[in-house]
Amino acid sequence: MNLTYIATAAMGLESLVAHEVRDLGFEDVKVENGKVIFKGDESALCRSNLWLRTADRVKLLVGEFKAETFDELFEQTKALPWSDFIPENGEFPVIGKSVKSKLFSVSDCQAIVKKAVVDQMKNAYQRETWFPEDGALYRIEVALLKDVATLTIDTSGTGLHKRGYRALHSEAPLKETMASALIKLTNWTPDKPFVDPFCGSGTIPIEAAMIGQNVAPGLNREFASEEWSWIDKKVWYRAVEEANDLAKYDTPLDIQGSDIDHKMIELSINNAEEAGFGEFITFKQMQVRDFTTRKEYGYVISNPPYGERIGEKEEVKQLYRDMGNAFRSLETWSVYVITSNEQFEQLYGRPATKKRKLYNGHIKTDYYQYFGKRPPRS
Ligand SMILES: C[S@@+](CC[C@H](N)C(=O)[O-])C[C@H]1O[C@@H](n2cnc3c(N)ncnc32)[C@H](O)[C@@H]1O
Repeated sequence: MNLTYIATAAMGLESLVAHEVRDLGFEDVKVENGKVIFKGDESALCRSNLWLRTADRVKLLVGEFKAETFDELFEQTKALPWSDFIPENGEFPVIGKSVKSKLFSVSDCQAIVKKAVVDQMKNAYQRETWFPEDGALYRIEVALLKDVATLTIDTSGTGLHKRGYRALHSEAPLKETMASALIKLTNWTPDKPFVDPFCGSGTIPIEAAMIGQNVAPGLNREFASEEWSWIDKKVWYRAVEEANDLAKYDTPLDIQGSDIDHKMIELSINNAEEAGFGEFITFKQMQVRDFTTRKEYGYVISNPPYGERIGEKEEVKQLYRDMGNAFRSLETWSVYVITSNEQFEQLYGRPATKKRKLYNGHIKTDYYQYFGKRPPRS
């Protein structure tokens, strides 16, 4: 089957998601605000869920049309081939959102879509009574944007940031998808030293280890569409087998995480073990100002406190000065810092080589990038 998928992306990460989608070999890749659209068969559904590191989830596009009235929404939804995807016992709740559209009542849109899907399926399955909805989950979404309705079924289940290794998390954890994006925005390669001096629950070092050993981020978890009747179990099996074959568990890594808080170090160690990287990442309790190294051409990628909470502001100013002092002499190292603090460069003591606007959840941040000296050509 030739199907259309939508990989949703946090604002600002669309081009990274598109890059990943192209790397997986999928066709007709289109980038829009917050999403990357691509085409593929059933195996693309499995592979995209297993491999996409920076996307939030993968949705199956069922239809897209203009709808300015409830009648238009109902009739056009009913005309879509729902029964091709949802079996008679499938559970199909409907969620919705509406932006800049005449149909602004989301709950009404959801109810109308539900009724239209039920009608289409009653015809297709020749059924008079209610559907039992006691089977696998096919979560439908009706998303209205400027009067265009996009109808999708979610294939991922839990968001793709849930890799399955972070049982416990710190107070201000970074989403795994964002941690991965921060790494992918650098030129780090697994042969180079990697340090996160504010590792919290260990998300950035763990994502780096996964990238370094080419481990598919979804290998440790389940997806809603694994239970779908029209996707042959063999297709999933082959995708998992491919991921297992491509993982390079013997790639040596030099990844270190540190944090001032020993509880965070315990958490990081647990999470890294859960992810299977216990022996590949070194964690230690340390203040950033004590960081020293004799290694060269390394990468610091970090998510320090932003100082947004009252009482934290002054402390964070000193922290950024400490960072500047600790990294100043490391000419060959590249340093990457995400923060919402607009005074970062002044406090750190140097203007960044490059800056990129990113949203960390709802917080507007900048990704400050300081490029180190390049290694000499051999
Ligand atoms: C925003 S959190 C990092 C969250 C982490 N990226 C994660 O995903 O869990 C910032 C971390 O910096 C640590 N921290 C605060 N001051 C520090 C200092 N002076 N040196 C090292 N770590 C510090 C805190 O304990 C906290 O865990």
